[in-house]
Amino acid sequence: MSASSDRIEGRVAVVTGGASGIGASCRRLLQAQGATVVVADLAGEPACDVTDRSALERLAGSLKRVDVLVNAAGVLTANRPIDELPAEDFRRNFEVNVLGIVHCCQAFGEHLRASRGAVVNVASQAALVSLPQQAAYTASKGAVAALTRSLAIDWAPHGVRVNAVAPGFTVTPMTEAFFENETFRRAAVKRIPLGRLLHPDEVAAAIVFLAGPEASAITGVVLPVDGGWTAGEPALPW
Ligand code: NAI
Repeated sequence: MSASSDRIEGRVAVVTGGASGIGASCRRLLQAQGATVVVADLAGEPACDVTDRSALERLAGSLKRVDVLVNAAGVLTANRPIDELPAEDFRRNFEVNVLGIVHCCQAFGEHLRASRGAVVNVASQAALVSLPQQAAYTASKGAVAALTRSLAIDWAPHGVRVNAVAPGFTVTPMTEAFFENETFRRAAVKRIPLGRLLHPDEVAAAIVFLAGPEASAITGVVLPVDGGWTAGEPALPW
């Protein structure tokens, strides 16, 4: 067995976006398994912006070690048809969702290589199938999937594993306003083969699995955690 992430217990994990939703579920689950968790979030205490490279470098410099990096911080801009998509929405999605991950991986890279650690990026089912009226978000999550493979290959010689999850519709502060719309909620649930929305703890469980020793041979994958959305349309009434 390699020394890479032999156990979660006693390890130090940095969770971006750890103040809310999927990131907060990761924080709780990692803590419950005995890890020390450092949250890097705009809404954290102290606040940390993943687009602020020097803040991330200061945070990295303040830590003795980092074994796990979960990149869950992300944004979703307003729904707009592609013809009305402002370049600023495109920039914003890429700045946080993609460049934020690059900044974090570079800032914590020395620690991760030293510990032969693991990175888990939060992509989206939108990395695999399009989300209507969300071209900028969809493109940014496609980039997260591609970036995950690049990082996995570049860091494999250092024993650092890099994977991603591609969550489906999960009830969090990012999405709960959508699901309050009964028509939207019903349409979404009907399209999900398992017939229900996801809970952030279910996504966190997959993230912690990918970060931990049971995934010691897995690197460069984008794991759908989507109730079957990307597998295909729900069964037809034949
Ligand atoms: P959320 O809105 O509950 O949590 C996102 C967190 O990221 C917030 O705490 C926010 O303060 C933080 N954040 C945003 N910009 C930041 C920045 N520049 N620096 C530091 N922190 C920042 O949303 P949720 O749903 O938990 O999203 C987590 C990740 O999961 C995101 O990457 C999102 O795109 C992805 N995702 C969510 C899905 C869902 O249905 N909720 C589905 C697929 C992917």
